[in-house]
Amino acid sequence: MAALPYIVGNWKMNGTRGMLNEARAIDRSAARFPKVQVAIAPPATLLYRTREAVEFIGVGGQDCHAYDSGAYTGDISAVMLKDTGADFTIVGHSERREYHAESDEEVRVKAEAALSAGLAVILCVGETEAQRDAGDAEAVVGSQLEGSCPRTEGAVEKLSVAYEPVWAIGTGRVPSVEDVAAMHKSIRAKLVAIYGDAGAEVRILYGGSVKAENASELLGIADVGGALVGGASLSAESFLAIVGAAA
Ligand code: G3H
Repeated sequence: MAALPYIVGNWKMNGTRGMLNEARAIDRSAARFPKVQVAIAPPATLLYRTREAVEFIGVGGQDCHAYDSGAYTGDISAVMLKDTGADFTIVGHSERREYHAESDEEVRVKAEAALSAGLAVILCVGETEAQRDAGDAEAVVGSQLEGSCPRTEGAVEKLSVAYEPVWAIGTGRVPSVEDVAAMHKSIRAKLVAIYGDAGAEVRILYGGSVKAENASELLGIADVGGALVGGASLSAESFLAIVGAAA
């Protein structure tokens, strides 16, 4: 059976308690779309409250530490995320890779820690504009997957991959339909190379300036199994329009 489209809102470093109203509104309306899997990743400070406030949607973290506990001031472990009631975590977002200099290897270890804590994982990959202009986009993303896909037993079953071209994040620019299709095909081939037949079942999401206006087109592209949405997930109205486009 084909997996449901998966629409995930990544709130990034946005939101204080008032945003729980958006979470509740998303949750109430998501119940009307049983054929779409909906989730949000609020900032860690809101995870527990969000979990308590919603019933139908998934809730997840935006990152986790590689270790379960220890002297790592300011960090949050996968075990702690799980303890808030989180279902999943994002790892390897380009903002982590860029601003925190996270390597593929670190991202892989984080993904494995998350899986071991019982969380599902959304692993982000994507090329910069310079890499695309140089014709290296597929090679870069392939190499990120090679280095950052979790290899622990059963990992593939709880893994989603989000393809997010760095140059499309928060810019209002999106790749052409052909470019998204070609990249998702290439990611699929890499996942099968890494995981064998099970790699054919991993959902591949697209992320980068997904809005109500372009969601139908992007979600209609072959092997686009959902969307990772940043800015447009911060209001229930705009996020639900994307959920509706996936239904
Ligand atoms: O995680 C989400 C992405 O970085 C996309 O962000 O929808 O604001 O472009 P955006």
